[in-house]
Parts: sequence; structure tokens; C-alpha cells
Amino acid sequence: MEREKWGSKLGFMLAAMGSAVGLGNIWRFSFVAGNNGGGAFLLLYLAFVVVIGVPLLLTEVSIGRKAESDVVGSFKKLAPGTPWFLSGFFGVLSAFLILSFYAVVAGWSIYYFWEYLTGKFFSEPAEGYGAAFGQFTAHAWHPLLWTALFMILTIGIVFSGVKNGIEFANKIFMPLLAIILIILAFYSISLDGAAEGLKFLFQPNWASLKDPSIYIAALGQAFFSLSLGMGAMLTYGSYLTKENKLPSATLGIGLMDTFFAVISGLVIFPAVFAFDIDPSSGPPLVFITLPGIFEQMPGGGIIGLVFFFALILAALSSSVSILEVPTAYFMRVCNWSRRFTSILMGSIMFILGITVSLGFGIWSGVTPIGDKNVLDSMDYVASNILLPLGGLAMALFVGWYFKKSEALEATDMTNLPVLRTLWHVVIKFLAPILIILIFLNKLGIIF
Ligand code: PHE
Repeated sequence: MEREKWGSKLGFMLAAMGSAVGLGNIWRFSFVAGNNGGGAFLLLYLAFVVVIGVPLLLTEVSIGRKAESDVVGSFKKLAPGTPWFLSGFFGVLSAFLILSFYAVVAGWSIYYFWEYLTGKFFSEPAEGYGAAFGQFTAHAWHPLLWTALFMILTIGIVFSGVKNGIEFANKIFMPLLAIILIILAFYSISLDGAAEGLKFLFQPNWASLKDPSIYIAALGQAFFSLSLGMGAMLTYGSYLTKENKLPSATLGIGLMDTFFAVISGLVIFPAVFAFDIDPSSGPPLVFITLPGIFEQMPGGGIIGLVFFFALILAALSSSVSILEVPTAYFMRVCNWSRRFTSILMGSIMFILGITVSLGFGIWSGVTPIGDKNVLDSMDYVASNILLPLGGLAMALFVGWYFKKSEALEATDMTNLPVLRTLWHVVIKFLAPILIILIFLNKLGIIF
């Protein structure tokens, strides 16, 4: 069977930006920044995006384009008879872990959208938004209906192949999401008490840099937000043809993703402080602060409605790229149809998601890692460990297994004199060394 291809470079760009921009920029970014002290975290995160993220993004997409295969198959094809392909399994595994909690959180977003649509969240419920969220997520099966709905939508898109639907939707909803976020940021900054939030986000507290956890958290966030290290970008790259130039495309994706993260920080933190919410309240953070802002705005109910709609689309354009990773892999190795594979993979992820959802209710005492509930534990293993390991393998692969000329050709860097040397030094030495140091530091072995 002929492998599928993007219709155009724009189609690829939109799909890759859609993959990068999602719940990671709004939901995950704000609670991870909140847990890690704000300003110092933001700086580290930005540094990692520039130094490691964008060069690795270029590397990952180029592996896929060169090999025209999935995350395991690409290594097999480019390095036959070597164990490199084993690193692809980090990606397949993290796809299962990530989509199972991603779908739960996206399900919450659909529920919020529904509550706005029916007018229920136009004004604060008697118990407050925080308690309303707590009651909803603690219910045994109610949130799962919304998770299932989100999963069905995701499967539906992957099932239909390389996607006109999602490319089209992204073209409309990404700009819409950006506009809404900018309006909200202005509003949030104008709230009484907002200055504290801006200080929290932009005035680094250098003492937080002493904690090794902040480095791994910032690294994990950079990987998660750029969809790096899992093979999502690799798989998307595998549907590209050689005429498309990669360096400018990857830079565009990195810029867009960072823009969405910073702007959502500007929405969330001023409001967090204005409403006296604890910035380290974890995954529920945006589901409590945002309705609070909407409620105070004239016409806020409508803004809430449109906001959650755009958030669902942003989540959907990311979740399809996650589901595509194991789908492309199992289609090839088991020779299954796209339809069967996407349904099977999506169903397994949904079942895993049940444990995540119950972790907010009857299983709230279940803490697989330290004091982390099921969601936080899965997220920790996938984002902070598996994604960086996957990225490390890709950097080493292109940096050391490829000849320099081959690496430059694969990434379209041959004609960019200074940049190409910089990029090559980064993926051959700097990025791998940094990732390894951060791991060793976190394990308490160095510093
Ligand atoms: N980047 C996506 C987001 O920010 C999530 C994602 C992670 C997608 C890993 C693909 C791979 O929401």
C-alpha cells in the first residue's frame, strides 16, 4: 500500500503546529510553572526550548522524512541490524501514557464547554468553581463519558487518514484561540491584585534554581509542549516530501508554541493572585481560575463558551498526533488496517484513562510515585523521563550515527553556514550532555 502524504507544506505546518499547541500550553504549562515557583521556571523553560527544543525538533522531523516510516521503523530502516530501533519504543510507550491522561483533561474541557453552552457556568455555582470542579471530577463515571467522547473524536480523525478536517479546523481555530487569549490576558492583567501574578511570572526567584526538580520539570515541559521525543513529529515528518524545507518550518512551530505558553501565563497568573488561589494547586488550576475571570467580564459567558471550544480543538489537534504514533507503528508491523488499528489503540488508551479519572475520586489515595496521584505519576514518567530519553536517542542518532554531511542534508541545513555548525554542535554534544546532566542531577548523583 502507498504511504500517505500531506497535501501541501502548509498542511504539514498546520498539523505540526496543531500537535505542538494544545493543553500543554495552557493547562500543563500553568500548573507546572505554578508548582515550580514561576519566574525562574519560565526562564529555564524558554532556555530549553531555544537550546534543545527547536534543534531537536528539526532533528526529529528530518529522521521521519528521510526514513518515511514510523518511530520504530525509521530507526530500523536507517540503521539496519543495529539496536537503535529500541529507542522508538520510548515513544510508543509514552504515547499510551500521555493520551490516557490527555483525554481525561480534554474531557473536562468538553464538560466545561457544555456547562457554558447550557448557561450553567455563566455565574459562579453556590459552592464556587473550585468545589464544583472537585465534585465533577470525583464522580465515578460522569467525567468518563466526556473522556469517551473526546476519544471517539480523536479516533474519528485518525481513522479518516491524513486529514483535511483537522487542517481546515486548525486554520480557523488557532487564530481564534490566539485572539481570545490576548483579550483575556489584557483583562486578567487589569484585575485588582494582578501585579503579584506578573511578579510571580516575570521576577525569577533565583533560590528556586537550587532545587534539582525545577530542571527536570522545565525540560519535561519543553518536550511535552513541543511534542518532542515521542515520534509524533517524526511520524508527521514521514508524510512530507523532500521539496519542503525544514529549518524555517521548525522555527515557526517553536515560536508559535512559545507564544501560546507565555500568553496563557499572562492570562492565568494575574488571575490566580487576584482571586487568591494557590498557584501550586496542580492540574485543576486553569479549570478554577478561568471561569472566575470569565464571570467578572462583561459577556464573559460567551467568552467562556468560545474559549473552551477553541481549547477542545487545540487538544484534538494534539491528541490525533499522539494516537498516530502507535497507529502508524502497529499498522506496519501487524499489517492491520488504519481503521482497526486506530480504534484498538484508542480503546486501550481510554481504558488506561479510566484509572486516571478515578484518581480524582475513589482512587484519590492511590499514589504510584511519591505523593503523586495517577495522572501526575503517568505524566511524570512520560514527560519528564520517556520524552527526554526519546529525544536523547534521536540527537545521538543523527549526531553520531549519521555522517555530518548526511545529517546536514537530512535537515536541509547544507546552505546555512553558521547555523548548520551551531545546530550540529548542539545535537551532537550540547543537548545530549544537558539532558544527561539534568537526569544525573535529579538522581542526586552530581552537584
Ligand atoms: N504538545 C502537545 C500539547 O502541548 C501534547 C503532545 C505531547 C503532543 C507529546 C504530542 C506529543 O498539548
